[in-house]
Amino acid sequence: MRVLKWIAHPFHDRFSKNLTKNDQDKGKVPQFLDLCEYVRGSYDKAEDFKNLNKEIEKREGGSKRRRIFYLALPPSVYGDVAKGLREHCYCEGGQNRLVIEKPFGFDTESSNKLGKQLSSLWSEEEIYRIDHYLGKEMVKNIIPLRFANVFFGTVWNRQSIDNVQITFKEPFGTEGRGGYFDEFGIIRDVIQNHLIQVLCYLAMEKPLSLDAEHVRDEKVKVLKCIHPLKEDDILVGQYTKSLDGQKPGYRDDEGVKKDSNAPTFAALVLHIDNDRWSGVPFIFKSGKALEEHKVEVRIQFQECPGNIFPGVSRNELVIRLQPNEAVYVKFQNKLPGLEMIPVVTELDLTYKERFPNQRIPDAYEALLLDVLNNNHSNFVRDDELEAAWEIFTPILHKIDANEITCEPYPYGSRGPSSLSAFVEKHGYKRDTQPYDWNDIKAQ
Ligand code: BG6
Repeated sequence: MRVLKWIAHPFHDRFSKNLTKNDQDKGKVPQFLDLCEYVRGSYDKAEDFKNLNKEIEKREGGSKRRRIFYLALPPSVYGDVAKGLREHCYCEGGQNRLVIEKPFGFDTESSNKLGKQLSSLWSEEEIYRIDHYLGKEMVKNIIPLRFANVFFGTVWNRQSIDNVQITFKEPFGTEGRGGYFDEFGIIRDVIQNHLIQVLCYLAMEKPLSLDAEHVRDEKVKVLKCIHPLKEDDILVGQYTKSLDGQKPGYRDDEGVKKDSNAPTFAALVLHIDNDRWSGVPFIFKSGKALEEHKVEVRIQFQECPGNIFPGVSRNELVIRLQPNEAVYVKFQNKLPGLEMIPVVTELDLTYKERFPNQRIPDAYEALLLDVLNNNHSNFVRDDELEAAWEIFTPILHKIDANEITCEPYPYGSRGPSSLSAFVEKHGYKRDTQPYDWNDIKAQ
């Protein structure tokens, strides 16, 4: 009888605990774990890579060999590991793919250096830079929403849109990840990559087709129309203990410097200098240890010209990326009754109601399948990465040098107290009429 190794090895035990299993797949876990092997080695020792190669060969069957190397490592060791794999684990005559997880460097210079190292060993065709936001259902949905609907298409420009807000809020701090986070901060952690990808889909022109290169060409074009971020267009914050003293401050986290200036919150505004978007601020708000969990895009339209209903709120289109995936449009409607009273209501597509039997795939599930299928559409191309770093590098250097300092905010709050004034200064107008989207029904 074959003994399943995973029972004995702590790696399998640990791995198993972190596997997301749906009901259908639960029974397959032991067989899956039996396919997983733990091979230990150094990042830069040829012998260790040769050993890894032997282990792979033992498990490889058939003549069609396909190897996928997935690297989730600090940027400082990517070069060595990519070299070791290329020299000792590359299968000649087969297919090889190198998947790398962010962070892709710290700024333009380090990212370009890493890019050069990688491209001297691996072709762009073989490299997959993963950004898991590109695997999220609601991020992918932006493309059909914009380009398969004539009524959204016609208002998607500076003539109708006043401002766009992209919000990322997490209700937990860096607990346990402080060592990593302190080197990067929230801008490098989620804005320069995840949220910029969301902006690309929102702002790019229609690609010639859904072909990976056509989509990525359009993303690069829009990124190149964004000027580097200026000091007036940013507000950074860092969380302190919660008001009740129960939750720790950022600097209490192990691995965080006691005088750290790493932002755990950032609000910033980008301007896209092209025909479609000139004058429309794209406002980003992102933070850890805030009052709620929410990632959404909020497109706020302009006021009606010659408005005969003074004081009404602006229309908004909201794309709720998570949790409770939804798309809803806030619009004015007559309150039923004898009087002519406009009230804000909504056209609401809440996924749990509209698609109750449809499973939303996990981002990594979708992306790793793309890698297997050799589909680069949802991966970041080298020129796209460089264009994204150029927007943020000057401001990041100023923050790193403490020339811009963080405003404190308590754990569990909405962020720094100057946030509301910041977003209002950049054009966002709060609802003038009472309104609350019915999030409850999606719980
Ligand atoms: C990661 C960041 O890339 O994305 C984390 O490093 C962040 O800090 C996470 O929490 C957010 O991903 P998701 O899928 O939970 O929104």
